[in-house]
Amino acid sequence: PPLESLINTYDFETVAEKTSSAKAWAFFSSAATDLISMRLNKEAFDRVLLRPRVMRNNKEVDTTTTILGVRTRSPFFVAPTAMAKMIHQDGEIAVSKGAGAEGIIHIISTNSSAPIADIISAGLGPEKQTHFLQLYVNTDRAKTIALLKTAREAGVKAVFVTVDAHLAGKREADERLKVDVPVKSAVSGAVSHNDKKGGGMGRLMGLYVDRTLNWEDIPWLKSVCGGLPIVLKGIQTAADAQLALKYGVQGIVLSNHGGRSLDTSPPSIFTLLELHKVCPEVFDHLEVYIDGGIRRGTDIFKALCLGAKAVGVGRPYLYALNYGAEGISHLTQILNDELETTMRMCGVTNLSQVHPGFVNTAMIDHF
Ligand code: FNR
Repeated sequence: PPLESLINTYDFETVAEKTSSAKAWAFFSSAATDLISMRLNKEAFDRVLLRPRVMRNNKEVDTTTTILGVRTRSPFFVAPTAMAKMIHQDGEIAVSKGAGAEGIIHIISTNSSAPIADIISAGLGPEKQTHFLQLYVNTDRAKTIALLKTAREAGVKAVFVTVDAHLAGKREADERLKVDVPVKSAVSGAVSHNDKKGGGMGRLMGLYVDRTLNWEDIPWLKSVCGGLPIVLKGIQTAADAQLALKYGVQGIVLSNHGGRSLDTSPPSIFTLLELHKVCPEVFDHLEVYIDGGIRRGTDIFKALCLGAKAVGVGRPYLYALNYGAEGISHLTQILNDELETTMRMCGVTNLSQVHPGFVNTAMIDHF
């Protein structure tokens, strides 16, 4: 169908299911074991209700904000996802172009199918467009140091260290289908191939990830990131948010990896509410982002009301990539329009005005 006929994130998913290879669909759409966390991610948002305020002038509305001090047109970013070339020949290059055209931030995965420098230069260039790097620490730490050097030279502005996927979750749809064509990560060098356990792309791509990584490595990470802000992606409890604060990182992403790592781990809205109860001081010192199940402008608005500085969108951008850079652009406009509508309907004209009073979380408390 023509791109203009797609009007929400689900439309992109429907097209992607029809047009992707069976293996690509299994890899992109799958999640761990019983898919409970993946489904709860969206359901949790559906159980947060809005509390709109009326009779406020909102002729003009502004969705811009900053992430780690960097200006962005919208409070959502392209979450890091692996192997975009399995969806479209231009892969991450097209993602970068689309994100650049719309003024939003793109986080490049360590398992990207194109080199970092090519991804960054495909867009508006490092002066006019912001890319962050998602990092999986390699068991061969010299490789991680080299990767960070390349990333810094290419113009990456922050490092998101993923801490919830030191091994891949058991994604059964992905394991069952063999890898038809071996695919290689241009960034980490990892190559997928079948083994006795099956063809799980996530598992095969992740074999190099260092499982010894722990809190005492944060000073090392800081030294090798050379002053770039560090964000920990995959925080799922208040206790770990407090440790992130103690160890002095600049941000955290509350995430369960789109339900792909450990099934029945909490949707990020649950963790966000837990932080308010247990360690509200975290919001004063760190930027808190969330991802998982963001499919509507209302989801973005709810997350921001509950203290998230921005949110990540994963699968919808992969599905939009069926249409290349234009798909990325079109999806961004749809989400931004939905967010603007939500803001206007709630009586908000810019994002500094959002607060928990715009949401009712009673249903989550009894979920
Ligand atoms: C991911 N995600 C991910 N995260 C990460 O830190 N590094 C990576 O390489 C990948 N790769 C990846 C591949 C695919 C196919 C998916 C679907 C996801 C997780 C991603 O960044 C994000 O946390 C989730 O996708 C958010 O959930 P939604 O938006 O997909 O529901």
